[in-house]
Amino acid sequence: MNVEELNVDETIGRVGKILCEHDRKKGILIHSFQKIQEDFGYLPDDVLNKLAKKLSLPLAEIYSVASFYKQFHFSPRGKKVVRVCTGTACHVRGAQKVLTALEDEFGISDGETTPDLTMTLETVGCVGCCGLAPVATVNEDVVGDITRKKLDDLINSIKED
Ligand code: FES
Repeated sequence: MNVEELNVDETIGRVGKILCEHDRKKGILIHSFQKIQEDFGYLPDDVLNKLAKKLSLPLAEIYSVASFYKQFHFSPRGKKVVRVCTGTACHVRGAQKVLTALEDEFGISDGETTPDLTMTLETVGCVGCCGLAPVATVNEDVVGDITRKKLDDLINSIKED
């Protein structure tokens, strides 16, 4: 078939159909990931395996889509997710000291979770509270103006929960 023989409407229709199908599958996957993560707190391998079979999709595609989104996790998360802001304002006002203190106290590094699932420690870019630097978030809460005393209180509250 040469270019003159192409039926533009038909071609666009076919491409549109393929894109719709692709978007639909992606939508189903993302919704499934959200539900799985709600139930398990992360995306367990065996559950993703079952999902791949159920949707007749290659497992690699499942992981490829899930890993594109930062919101999905492939290992269990801590009860408290502590994110230390390492944006410029926080960096200048001691974010590294906060991070190091938490790493030393809980024996984990950035991106890791304690074996007892008490805490997951992460770093994050500016969270929009630069006036309160240095800042960390604990689950949905913001902790600002982190002094040594505040840091000790934070550590104790994480251990006590
Ligand atoms: S740099 Fe940390 S809140 Fe903006």
